[in-house]
Amino acid sequence: MSNNKHIIPHEHQLCKQKRAAIKGQKPCVLWFTGLSGSGKSTLANAVEVKLNQLQKHSYLLDGDNIRTGLNQGLGFSEEDRVENIRRVAEVAKLFVESGLIVLSAFISPFQKERDKARALVANDEFIEIFVDTPLEVCQHRDPKGLYKKAIKGEIPNFTGISSPYEIPNKAEIHIKTDKMTIEEASQIIIQYLQKRGYLTC
Ligand code: ADX
Repeated sequence: MSNNKHIIPHEHQLCKQKRAAIKGQKPCVLWFTGLSGSGKSTLANAVEVKLNQLQKHSYLLDGDNIRTGLNQGLGFSEEDRVENIRRVAEVAKLFVESGLIVLSAFISPFQKERDKARALVANDEFIEIFVDTPLEVCQHRDPKGLYKKAIKGEIPNFTGISSPYEIPNKAEIHIKTDKMTIEEASQIIIQYLQKRGYLTC
């Protein structure tokens, strides 16, 4: 742990509400969680395209992408996953401060870490979205061929196979991907935001 006692944060003169007001929206984090292959990235992308069509300002943080940049070097041990999510949650918080609608698509398998991410922003700024796809369906889809490798023991600590996934206990939105299309699921999320005033300001 570094010594932070001589760091004194500077208060910003411009507040998040003013940044958001000129974008005509209320900033928030759409936190997609679910197994690898559950469809988090596909759904988050579909929602982001819809937001853009509605002239809303967003940014998508995606597990595989962030792990090739900011979080390059972090692996899949429990400790590394905790650090992965801690950093992403801090970035999401900064983007909320900037007035954006942030979409994050990470397995984020641990309830405690998701709760910590939630606690970094205001109550109504964190919308947890459980992308609920049964393990068998993810295994069958296996878009990157990773389940096959994990079952053969070639990938250690693979979520759902040799590492746990804790089902969300307070998700605001529950999407059962095997019961609806991506179009329907993304519409549910957009309607959630519209009804609660996130897309007006
Ligand atoms: S998290 O658990 O730390 O939230 P994250 O979402 O960043 O995971 O990354 C998950 C992606 O990394 C998966 O979609 C998959 O493509 C890849 N991956 C590589 N190794 C593993 C593993 N051991 N467990 C899960 N996903 C893995």
